[in-house]
Amino acid sequence: MQALASPPALVFDGISGSNATGVSVFHRPSALATAGFASLALALFACSGEEGGSPKTPARTSSGSSSSSSSVVTPAMLSVFGALPADYWKGAKPSAALTDLGRALYYEGRLSKSGTISCNSCHQLDRFGVDGEKTSPGHDGTRGDRNSPTSLNAAGHFVQFWDGRAGTVEDQAKGPVLNPIEHGLESADQLVGILKGIPGYVQLFGQAFPGQADPITFDNFAIAVGAFERGLVTPSRFDDFVGGKKDALSYQEQMGLKAFFDTGCHTCHMGAQFGGQSYDKLGKVIPWPGEVKDLGRGTHTKNASENLLFKVPGLRNITKTGPYLHDGSVADLGEIVKLMAKHQLGKELAKSDIDAIVAFLGALEGRVDAAYTKKPSAP
Ligand code: HEC
Ligand code: HEC
Repeated sequence: MQALASPPALVFDGISGSNATGVSVFHRPSALATAGFASLALALFACSGEEGGSPKTPARTSSGSSSSSSSVVTPAMLSVFGALPADYWKGAKPSAALTDLGRALYYEGRLSKSGTISCNSCHQLDRFGVDGEKTSPGHDGTRGDRNSPTSLNAAGHFVQFWDGRAGTVEDQAKGPVLNPIEHGLESADQLVGILKGIPGYVQLFGQAFPGQADPITFDNFAIAVGAFERGLVTPSRFDDFVGGKKDALSYQEQMGLKAFFDTGCHTCHMGAQFGGQSYDKLGKVIPWPGEVKDLGRGTHTKNASENLLFKVPGLRNITKTGPYLHDGSVADLGEIVKLMAKHQLGKELAKSDIDAIVAFLGALEGRVDAAYTKKPSAP
């Protein structure tokens, strides 16, 4: 488990009074320590309402005096996730010229061997950033071995790809265009040559990188695509709830969040993305059923101790981004929730808990900015 560079922001504003019942819910010091989350753990204990009472089970809401949201979801639960940022730009907002260029490149089919494959072929922005396929066909129809993760909110992850082999969305963008079974271009020079031959791009790169003598470069291509991706953020009803709108989550969804938390899902799926902050082993407690051919991070690093480590995926928009796992092997969300509880945590979930967790995950379905993601006319 890899430690966070910085823990997610703690969020207590807007939910004031929600711990008024004094219900102490967060009692997972060992799990948190494993997560390398010491500073956050301290913060959590500081506000968990714990008074040295029984350190095991949370009081049951149903037996409490109130079934209002305040007795189901506590600030401690919300603080593990934190608020979704407004965007993933580092520092100042980039110019519209740069994100416009990035958007055009994201949809650009001419940057592929067949002239038809773009980022949007596999990460469709009108389909929550995925293609709905187990694995995706590239420029000649050949499929890779891995499922296409969503491009939405990906910029908020600590590394990119299932095995984390790229650090940032900018580094990542250089991969698919030269991947033989994705876009299938021969070289960075070929990409630059194609772009230089399209007058509209000469103009767009000039506007996006003012003052540069030779703005059409492979690096600038990646910077522009990355800048566009850093604006792909999808606030959801969960964020409305965090912001203080208490009726943004139904009672069942709140019970689902509580079950997610009580089961321990948050020990891996943490932070504002509900994941994307660490690697972990598939089949951590009980080996994953069936043969797992892909060794994940171990395939990339050739270090056997990293076999079966995958980036813990974010769960935002998860109801829309199936099929699931690095190989797309699980189609049903209820099924993957059940498998996760069993194999990652050694717990059998009751059907009612699975249903509640699935309901809660639905509240992570976000609002995709239609104007920002709209396909532009080709340059
Ligand atoms: C042929 C399908 C295909 C195309 C085209 C494609 N991708 Fe991907 N993308 C994938 C697959 C599959 C993965 C996961 C691969 C892996 O982890 O090894 C991925 C991973 C990613 C990720 C990492 C997300 C995460 O959560 O780790 C990002 C971001 C991304 N692609 C953006 C892009 C961009 C930008 C382009 C265009 C320059 C692009 N992709 C083109 C299939 C595709
Ligand atoms: C020990 C860490 C760990 C715990 C605990 C854990 N997960 Fe996961 N989860 C992962 C990893 C790693 C993956 C990706 C594995 C892969 O693709 O092979 C994953 C994948 C998923 C996926 C599929 C995501 C996608 O985009 O395909 C869902 C949904 C999910 N987990 C939900 C849950 C739920 C719900 C719980 C609690 C019952 C839970 N997880 C507990 C580590 C964990």
